[in-house]
Amino acid sequence: MTTHKLMLLPGDGIGPEIMAEVTKVIAWTERAFDVTFDVSSGLVGGCAYDAEGVPLSDETLAAAKACDAIIMGAVGGPKWDGVDYDKRPEAGLLRLRKELDAFANLRPAICFDALADASSLKREFVAGLDLLFVRELSSGVYFGEPRGIETLDDGSRVGINTQRYTEAEIERIAHVGFQMAQKRGGRVASAEKSNVMEAGLLWREVVTEVHQDHYSDVELTHILADNCAMQLVKNPKQFDVILTDNLFGDLLSDEAAMLTGSLGMLPSASLGNGEMPGLYEPVHGSAPDIAGEGIANPIAAILSFAMALRYSLNMGGAATAVEAAVDRVLADNVRTSDIWAEGTMRVTTSQMGDAILKKLDDN
Ligand code: IPM
Ligand code: MG
Repeated sequence: MTTHKLMLLPGDGIGPEIMAEVTKVIAWTERAFDVTFDVSSGLVGGCAYDAEGVPLSDETLAAAKACDAIIMGAVGGPKWDGVDYDKRPEAGLLRLRKELDAFANLRPAICFDALADASSLKREFVAGLDLLFVRELSSGVYFGEPRGIETLDDGSRVGINTQRYTEAEIERIAHVGFQMAQKRGGRVASAEKSNVMEAGLLWREVVTEVHQDHYSDVELTHILADNCAMQLVKNPKQFDVILTDNLFGDLLSDEAAMLTGSLGMLPSASLGNGEMPGLYEPVHGSAPDIAGEGIANPIAAILSFAMALRYSLNMGGAATAVEAAVDRVLADNVRTSDIWAEGTMRVTTSQMGDAILKKLDDN
C-alpha cells in the first residue's frame, strides 16, 4: 500500500468550506484505490497572520516541503487591507510559491458542455473549449527588485515594481509550455509585450530559440498580451497552450475563467523541477463576500486535487475519474449559485461535494 503525504492549507474566506469538500474526495480516493493519505493541515494567509503574526510561518513551510503535494484553498480578504505588504495574506502564498520554486503554473480552462450556457460568451464560442495556460509563477514583476514605495526629494511618493526575467527563467518555463503542447494540440501561443518592454523582447527571443532547438513538432506563434486578451473573447478556441509571464498569466487566466462559466471552475497546479512538492490551488480567490454562507463552488478545489493526483501522485486514473464525476454532476444540472441558471438545481457547497462523491461511488 502506498502512502502519500498531503498538506492542506485551507487559508481564508471560502477556503475552509471548499477544502471540506476536497477532504471527501481524498477519503474516496483511499476507498477506491490501494493508497492511504497521511494528511496534515496548516495555516496560510490572513488566518496565519492573525494566529502567528506572519502569513506563512517557517514551521508551516517546512512541513509543507516535507509532503508529496500541497492543496491550498485561498488567501486574503478586506480584513487585512491595512497590513504591510510583506505580511499580507498574499505574501504568504507568494513565499510558498517561491520557496517551492514552483515556477510552472498550469491553469487549464475547460468548458464543460453542461456549462456552455453559463459563460458570458455565446455557447458556440465556448462549447468544447479546452485551453491550457502555462504561467511563469516565481519571477517577473511579482518578485522583481527594486520594489517599494519611496519618497522623492520633493516629498511626493513613487511606487516601484520591476519586471525582470533572466534567460534561464524564460527557458525553463518555455520548455514546460512546449512539452505540454506536445501532449495536447501541439500549438503554443506565447504572450508578452515585446513592443514596449525589453523583458518581453527577451521573452520572445528566448522562446523562439527554445522552440527552434527542441520543438520543431510544435507550432509556435507570438502574440502581444493585449491582443491575446482580445482574442480570448473573440475566438477562444483558436488557442491550445498559452505561454506567458506571471502578471499577464494572472490577468489572462481570470479572463479565460469566465469563458468556462465561472471562476469557481478553474483548478491549477504549480510545479517546480520535481524536487519539491507540487502546489495545487483553485484559481479563484477567497471570496470574502460569500464566505461562511456555504454557497461557494467547491469544483475548482476538487479539480485541483485531481491535478495533484495526476501530476504529483502518479494517479492519472483517479484524476480522470474525479473529472468525469464533475462532468456528470453538471450534466445532471446540479449547480452552485455561481453557475446556477433557470431550470437547474441550486445546491450548497457541501451538497455539491456530496453529489460528486455519489457519482464517484456509483462508478
Ligand atoms: C492567483 C491570485 C494570486 C496571484 C494572488 C492571490 C496573489 O490572483 O493565483 O491568480 O496574483 O497570483
Ligand atoms: Mg489571479
